[in-house]
Amino acid sequence: MANPSILILPGDGIGPEVMAEVRKIISWFDAKRGLSFDVSEDLVGGAAYDVHGTPLADSTMEKAQSVDAVLLGAVGGPKYDSLPFEVKPERGLLRLRKEMDLYANLRPAVCFDALADFSSLKRDVVAGLDIMIVRELTSGVYFGEPRGIFTEGNERVGINTQRYTESEIARVARSAFELARRRRNKVCSMEKANVMESGILWREVVQKVHDEEYPDVELSHMYADNGAMQLVRNPKQFDVIVTDNLFGDILSDAAAMLTGSLGMLPSASLGAPMANGRPKALYEPVHGSAPDIAGQNKANPIACILSFGMALRYSFDQGAEADRLERAVEAVLAKGLRTADLMGPEGGSPVSTSEMGDAIVQALDESL
Ligand code: NAD
Ligand code: IPM
Ligand code: MN
Repeated sequence: MANPSILILPGDGIGPEVMAEVRKIISWFDAKRGLSFDVSEDLVGGAAYDVHGTPLADSTMEKAQSVDAVLLGAVGGPKYDSLPFEVKPERGLLRLRKEMDLYANLRPAVCFDALADFSSLKRDVVAGLDIMIVRELTSGVYFGEPRGIFTEGNERVGINTQRYTESEIARVARSAFELARRRRNKVCSMEKANVMESGILWREVVQKVHDEEYPDVELSHMYADNGAMQLVRNPKQFDVIVTDNLFGDILSDAAAMLTGSLGMLPSASLGAPMANGRPKALYEPVHGSAPDIAGQNKANPIACILSFGMALRYSFDQGAEADRLERAVEAVLAKGLRTADLMGPEGGSPVSTSEMGDAIVQALDESL
């Protein structure tokens, strides 16, 4: 049987730097665990714009549709900030998400014990934290129509529309309930049903899916502003959080700091199963291209490496190997290795991106 296929899209800024470390991990699994992948690479974001004049060429889109999993680094950067809206690097990523119909974005926030003192919150608040944010990824205000900048009288008006259909809400709710059943069986749904009609529908549909299909899962509802506060007050009250595209974007960056750094947070964006039973899937760190540290071999590659771990788990049915990779990351952190983002106010001597990748490979070796 052919090897499973992976398309690597390193993108911009620190994207290629962290992806180089993921390649080391992929090679390790090939050499030491007999897990071989057909890996190809292509351009996305500003890197694609520079070559093709578009942040995602049609040929790249076609490849993404045909592989078993896409791994993406990050897109964007100051060089591209003044480009017309349609060709901004971020449009390439949004096109991938939309056309692959990757509606469920899983963003786990796990606090490794070795990092509990590096969070901006107190150790007691974050130690042992393990929550999963499920962000709806293909609809809501990111994609709703009408949208644009229009002229009204003698001034301009910027318009975006929050729009959700019942089926869009129901399918992401199902993803959240399914995940909860394999975790601590609790879902908290976040919206603003107090001020938004789309929030009222969101709450109704999530409740209906629960009552009809998942009555065994504990469900609660929370306004998203309170949810943001509760996430920093007492994050361990949560197991799975399900929320819309924009609230999920913001809440997951906030959750990142519970783990010590944005450089720690991986994600999986999953769609419906393909003919081979695997879900359409794209894996990427939650962070962006970090222009402030790009090109300096300083970035933390762990978010991207753990995103490959999520690919092992969700696309390739290799849960035990994903556990092995997570334990290797944990072991390296326990030894005290830290990239610059994990230094904390008192400083110290950080390791580089490539040193962190090498240390994780060594920890994988030690796991055998
Ligand atoms: P960012 O996530 O790139 O950076 C925010 C801060 O976190 C910066 O100080 C950065 O140095 C730090 N940081 C991020 N990742 C890190 C890592 N792995 N290791 C160490 N430090 C890290 O967000 P931003 O600055 O708001 O956005 C920069 C660009 O990235 C923008 O063009 C934005 O649109 C884009 N972006 C892309 C994605 C993506 O590709 N998925 C996500 C977010 C932002
Ligand atoms: C993310 C990013 C993206 C988003 C941007 C770069 C399009 O912030 O993946 O969290 O807003 O979804
Ligand atoms: Mn974001």
